[in-house]
Amino acid sequence: MSKKHITAVVNGDVSEFLSDPGTTLLDALRDELGLTGSKEGCGTGDCGACSVIVDGRLVCSCLMLAAEAEGKRIETIEGMAQDGVLHPLQQKFLEHAALQCGFCTPGLLVASRALLETNPDPTETEVRYWLAGNLCRCTGYDKVIRAVMDAAAEMRQVRRAS
Ligand code: FES
Ligand code: FES
Repeated sequence: MSKKHITAVVNGDVSEFLSDPGTTLLDALRDELGLTGSKEGCGTGDCGACSVIVDGRLVCSCLMLAAEAEGKRIETIEGMAQDGVLHPLQQKFLEHAALQCGFCTPGLLVASRALLETNPDPTETEVRYWLAGNLCRCTGYDKVIRAVMDAAAEMRQVRRAS
């Protein structure tokens, strides 16, 4: 079966790759573009480890075909830090020790970013509900929730000051 040529904007850069018709976006990101931050925990849309943002929407990249990425704007964990400076969410995850093995962390960070971009002042319940699709077997979630709430507060403060 012939490969399809895909062009997408990945973390702000135009990227081109060849993909088999059945290849998932997750596999294309990892194997064709070398962006291995997105993880495959389940491959069935249940764990959130493969979360990416596609045209502003949070997506499980294991459930999306690479061919569907044609012309789309894709943001992955690799695009979160800018010019060597961690995103506030990344910084707060470190400060709150909101990770242990780290396997779920890229997905949690990308999902949290997607939340704060649409809801900069979420309640704790809203954060917990939003991240319910991101499974973590290590942290017990509390530190993650604290980190997201703290990052949201800091980002609001920066926005007010600017
Ligand atoms: Fe995609 Fe688990 S690997 S949701
Ligand atoms: Fe290990 Fe979340 S830190 S699965």
